[in-house]
Amino acid sequence: MGSCCSVRIRADHSPRRDGLSSRFVSVDGKDTSSRRSSSSMPLTPRNEGEILDSSNLKSFGFNDLRIATRNFRPDSVLGEGGFGCVFKGWIDEHTFKAAKPGTGTVIAVKRLNQEGFQGHKEWLTEINYLGQLYHPNLVKLLGYCLEDEHRLLVYEFMPRGSLENHLFRRTSYFQPLSWNLRMKVALGAAKGLAYLHSPEAKVIYRDFKSSNILLDTNYNAKLSDFGLAKDGPMDGKSHVSTRVMGTYGYAAPEYMATGHLTARSDVYSFGVVLLEMLTGRRVLDKNRPHGEQNLIEWARPYLASKRRVLRVMDARLEGQYSPSGALRAATLAIKCLALEPKHRPTMDDVVKALEQLQEMGSVKTEEAQKHRRARDEDSSSRKMASYPRPSVSPILA
Ligand SMILES: Nc1ncnc2c1ncn2[C@@H]1O[C@H](COP(=O)(O)OP(=O)(O)OP(=O)(O)O)[C@@H](O)[C@H]1O
Ligand SMILES: [Mg+2]
Repeated sequence: MGSCCSVRIRADHSPRRDGLSSRFVSVDGKDTSSRRSSSSMPLTPRNEGEILDSSNLKSFGFNDLRIATRNFRPDSVLGEGGFGCVFKGWIDEHTFKAAKPGTGTVIAVKRLNQEGFQGHKEWLTEINYLGQLYHPNLVKLLGYCLEDEHRLLVYEFMPRGSLENHLFRRTSYFQPLSWNLRMKVALGAAKGLAYLHSPEAKVIYRDFKSSNILLDTNYNAKLSDFGLAKDGPMDGKSHVSTRVMGTYGYAAPEYMATGHLTARSDVYSFGVVLLEMLTGRRVLDKNRPHGEQNLIEWARPYLASKRRVLRVMDARLEGQYSPSGALRAATLAIKCLALEPKHRPTMDDVVKALEQLQEMGSVKTEEAQKHRRARDEDSSSRKMASYPRPSVSPILA
């Protein structure tokens, strides 16, 4: 099935021409990040054997996954990333053996392109992190397959696919998300990132983007793809030094320039995705006119002005948000996109701000309902008033 897949990590520094996001890695930089000592943290075991043994994941046989996905049939493809293709499959929930399509548990199987070391490293990093981190806003990794040259990952199936598809795909299957759903997804994804940054996990995600936010039936957001995740800085250190890897448009400018990675780099990427949600535009889009291809550059001057901010909002959201709600969300996005990392909020701050926005939204909805009821009552009484009534009219003598 290799033909459907493109290379995920790119060694060049040029964005893709089709306007879709592209992954990159610096060509010369070395990854100099240090691991936390094994005594201080349970998250990063030392070698491949330890990682595979220490995780609570199921080791799948290649043949089972082949049968579960109906021989990796093209019509089972759920999506394609630089890492490889993702297929839909069915397994028996007790035996984990392949099941008949439509029976048992639905799974998503990511099959790594057979392109050597870099992919293997990401595959292992994904197992290392997702094998040990559990949170309602992180996608569940059920298991993996390591057999000969085959590297696969088996996830819970996310029925509504990625946020990217909902925001940017123009098909009847992916309807544009409403304002309320966008805010719900933003909050869920923010909670996932806040958990990663918490002292409990202490992880920098490094690849926050709309295609890595997956949605369940109820539009609960879950982060996927931990192939680039890193342990956060140890006490006393402000950052981790890494070679620059990530996705054009989403990576924070200071990280791109220096390779210094902090949790605030993830906050910048969150700001990018929030802006994509508000505007309905991709962060980089070569198909737009000059001056509009880079979303951040185009939107920044509008976001700074209370008067102009509504002009950049997704036209498909018209009538669904209150101007003050839109303004608050846009203000949060600008804060996350601050060029100076220390001026960015923490993910905990972001979660609080989005929760307030939701509360404000529900108050607004109640207010709107009250207002509507009052208006309806008023109009029905006006309707009554419009019936002919005996009126006191001057009796002309
Ligand atoms: N667990 C899942 N359930 C349902 N669909 C999924 C699941 N995992 C991935 N997908 C679909 O497959 C697509 C490809 O995912 P993948 O993570 O391989 O690449 P990507 O995130 O789009 O790009 P990149 O490789 O640059 O990160 C996703 O965008 C999503 O639509
Ligand atoms: Mg992904």
